[in-house]
Amino acid sequence: MIEMGSENKDSGRHPKDAGLQSFTLVKYFSFSALGAILIFTMILSWIISNNAKVVMLKQSEDYSLLLAGNINQQVFRRFVLPAVVRYGRIALRNPDQFGYLDKIVSEIVQGLDIDSVTIYDSKENIVSYSTLPELVGKRDRGGIEYEKALKGAANSRFIYSGSMWSLLSSDPQISCQLMTFIPFRQVRESGEAGDAIMGVIEIAKDLSKDYTAILKLQGRIMIVSAVVMLVLFLVLRVIVLRAGTILERRMGERIRLKEQLDKTEQLAHLGTMVATVSHEIKSPLGIVRSTAEILKKRIEKVAPGNENLAQIIVDETARLNTIVTEFLDFARPQQPKLKSCDLQLILDKAINFTRSMAVKQGVEIETSYAGNGIVREVDEDMLYRAFLNIILNGIQAMETGGRLVVETQEGEEGQIIVSFRDNGPGMSEEKAAQIFEPFFTDKTKGTGLGLAITKNIVEEHGGEIRVESRVQEGTRFVILFP
Ligand SMILES: Nc1ncnc2c1ncn2[C@@H]1O[C@H](COP(=O)(O)OP(=O)(O)OP(=O)(O)O)[C@@H](O)[C@H]1O
Ligand SMILES: [Mg+2]
Repeated sequence: MIEMGSENKDSGRHPKDAGLQSFTLVKYFSFSALGAILIFTMILSWIISNNAKVVMLKQSEDYSLLLAGNINQQVFRRFVLPAVVRYGRIALRNPDQFGYLDKIVSEIVQGLDIDSVTIYDSKENIVSYSTLPELVGKRDRGGIEYEKALKGAANSRFIYSGSMWSLLSSDPQISCQLMTFIPFRQVRESGEAGDAIMGVIEIAKDLSKDYTAILKLQGRIMIVSAVVMLVLFLVLRVIVLRAGTILERRMGERIRLKEQLDKTEQLAHLGTMVATVSHEIKSPLGIVRSTAEILKKRIEKVAPGNENLAQIIVDETARLNTIVTEFLDFARPQQPKLKSCDLQLILDKAINFTRSMAVKQGVEIETSYAGNGIVREVDEDMLYRAFLNIILNGIQAMETGGRLVVETQEGEEGQIIVSFRDNGPGMSEEKAAQIFEPFFTDKTKGTGLGLAITKNIVEEHGGEIRVESRVQEGTRFVILFP
């Protein structure tokens, strides 16, 4: 048996993936299964070929019985009757009678594929006549088959040597002989066999050639079935393995999707909470701010030189208000109100807004536009916010100055590519993978919502946003609108 141990596909697998192994049909295609299949195939082919052997032997047996019957008839008619007339009784010790019988038998079997014809006496198990002279006079050669035939039952015996495995040797010793025994009966005038049994006729036929052919066929059937099974098994194994991989991948995708969904749900809860809190904060914040403004004016009169204290309150409430507004924007994404707008004008507006800040920080902003106006159905305010977030991030990243290139391109199928390239500090791959997550920030005064909101806006417009970044070299944000 070919036992190579079933392959354990689970070993060394990430525990998270263990749940993915639902498609385990492949385990039925292990090598021990192949062993079992091969054994089963061997048994089946052996049964089939053995059946062929039985059929072949049965045919030979039938043929021999027929032949023996024929010899019985002819010997009785052509020898027994004339000899009785001529010599008074049958006595094969008489060389005359023996020679006469031998001549007749030789004539009958001439050209037939027969090894020998032997006739036994009816009184004792002794050979009276045989085409092989050395057998004449031998005692107890007939065995049980002789006894049976003497009782009237025709029967036969096969003498084999060698098996299918003998074929493997260089000089295979394979032989098969069929010995058929029938009672030697009197023949009536009508041609029917009479009741009196005068002896036993034995026909020996060599079946070695047929037997060898059958054994070869047996071997061939087994080899061919084994090869067919092996090929079939391997092909099925490959198919099942592939199907397994595909299913595993699908399952992985489904799990990832589910995780995303869970996360989205969590965020939605969080969003509602944030929205409620932010909304509640906004109005008192407005009151604090306007009160601080009134206070500032009064301080100017009462205690001049101290108004900057009130100004701090005004500034900080303004900053808090921006943060709260951002929270609200993120938590309650708006539906875009689409209008025909020129994307490049929106970009210009955002650049102009940040110009003074850029100049202060030594950042040069350049534009490289595709043509004179790219007009699309978009929500102007939302896109303005998205572009502004990216430009602001760029300026903020280049603390010691740098260059920000804003570029637009039109694709062949009408897509628009808007890119923002800076030569700031860049970021690691790990960081780049997280920047679109809400609340991810490394700024002390940032909320980490800028890019999350930007991503939402771009996606609301059916577009996508990507980041390419290298540490020390710079960052490029690419927005693709379909
Ligand atoms: N051009 C850039 N170069 C380097 N890092 C950047 C760039 N743009 C964004 N980042 C990184 O991504 C982080 C997330 O940006 P995001 O705009 O979402 O939040 P933030 O700018 O930190 O805060 P907020 O925009 O809410 O004020 C930033 O903190 C910064 O570390
Ligand atoms: Mg930002």
